[in-house]
Amino acid sequence: MRKLEKKIPVGILGATGTVGQKFITLLDHHPYFEITSLVASERSAGKRYREACSWKQNVPLPPEIGDMTVLSLEKDLDCRILFSGLDSSVAGEAESRCAEKGHWVISNSKNHRMDPDVPLVIPEINPDHYGLIRRQKTSGKIVTNPNCSTMFLAMVLAPLYRSFGIDAVSVTTMQAVSGAGYPGVSSLDILGNVIPLISGEDEKMETETVKILGLLDGGEIRNASFKVSAQCNRVPVIDGHMETAAVRLNGSPARKDISDTLASFRGFPQEHNLPSAPESPIMVLDDPAGPQPLRDLSVYGGMSALVGRLRPCPVMGTKMVILGHNTIRGAAGAAVLNGEALFELGYFE
Ligand SMILES: NC(=O)c1ccc[n+]([C@@H]2O[C@H](COP(=O)([O-])OP(=O)(O)OC[C@H]3O[C@@H](n4cnc5c(N)ncnc54)[C@H](OP(=O)(O)O)[C@@H]3O)[C@@H](O)[C@H]2O)c1
Repeated sequence: MRKLEKKIPVGILGATGTVGQKFITLLDHHPYFEITSLVASERSAGKRYREACSWKQNVPLPPEIGDMTVLSLEKDLDCRILFSGLDSSVAGEAESRCAEKGHWVISNSKNHRMDPDVPLVIPEINPDHYGLIRRQKTSGKIVTNPNCSTMFLAMVLAPLYRSFGIDAVSVTTMQAVSGAGYPGVSSLDILGNVIPLISGEDEKMETETVKILGLLDGGEIRNASFKVSAQCNRVPVIDGHMETAAVRLNGSPARKDISDTLASFRGFPQEHNLPSAPESPIMVLDDPAGPQPLRDLSVYGGMSALVGRLRPCPVMGTKMVILGHNTIRGAAGAAVLNGEALFELGYFE
C-alpha cells in the first residue's frame, strides 16, 4: 500500500442520498481520503447536512459531517476527486461539467458507463481499462463502476471466463428496495409483492458485463463474446441483491474445479492490500440454504460476492445463487475501491 503525507480532499455528489450516505460511512477516517465537500440538489443546498438528509445508516452520522453545509452543483469545489451518487436525471451533464473543471469523477450513475472513452472498472477484474481515460480530452476524468446487480454477476463470471471460457449466461435477480434510492419504491407497491420490472436494468446487466470482461485493444474495448440474458425483479428486502445464474461454460469442468476457481480468485486490490479490499472477493458457501440477505450480507464488510448452491444445471451446465451488498460493493464501496486503485496506480499525481 502506498503512503501519503496528507490526505486527499474529496467531495461527494448526491451526498444526501442512499449511495451518498454510504460514501460518508466508508470515507469517514479513510486512510487516503478526507471529505471536504458535500453536494446535493437545490432542495438541500445551504442547509446543514444533518437537516438536509434523512440519515438511514446503522452507524451514527459523524458530528463534523452533520455540521457541514450542503453545496449545490453550481459551486466551485475545492477538491480533486468527486465520488458521485447523483441521481441519473442530472448525473450525465453534471459529471461532464465537473470533469471539464478538472475534477476526477468516480461515478455510480449509469450515464457515462457505456461511453467508449470511459472506463467501467471492477479493480479485481479490469484495472487495465483505466487506460481508456487517455482518450478523455478534459483536464479532469470520469471513471465508473457498474450497476449494482452487474457488479456481483461480473465478479463471479470473471474467474470462470478466464479459466474455462463462457458460452452463455442466464440470470434472474431479486433486488432490494435500497437499490431504488430514498424514498424509492412506495411501501404499498412493494410490501407482500414482487415487481418484475426495474426499468433499464436487464439491459444494463447484459451490456455492462461484457464491457467489463472485454479486452482493451488499441484504445478500445472489445466486448467479451458471450451473451447474457437478464431478468430483474424488485423484492421486499431492505439490502442485498440476490441473483440466480445459470452459466454455460466451455468444456465440462467439475464442480470442485469451478468452486476452487471462484474461491481462489484474487486481483489488484488484494495484491496491493488496498484499504477496502476484501480478503476474498468471492466467498463460496457450502450451506445448502445460503446465501441469505438477512444473515450473510456483512461478510468482509459487504465487499465480497457470496456464492451458494453451486450445482449442475440440466440446461446450461452450471447454476448457482449469488448475493451481494448493493449499496456497498454494488455502489459506494465499488467507487471507493476504484479511488484507492487509481491512487495506488499513481493516477492522481
Ligand atoms: N441505491 C443503490 O443501491 C445504487 C446502486 C448502484 C448505483 N446507484 C446509482 O447511484 C445514484 C444514486 O442512487 P441513490 O440510490 O443514492 O439515489 P437517491 O437516494 O435518490 O439519491 C439521489 C441523490 O442525488 C441528488 N440529486 C437529485 N436531483 C439532483 C439535482 N437536480 N441536482 C443535484 N443533486 C441532485 C439528491 O439530492 P437531494 O437529497 O437534495 O434531492 C440525492 O443526494 C443513481 O444514479 C443510482 O442509479 C444506486
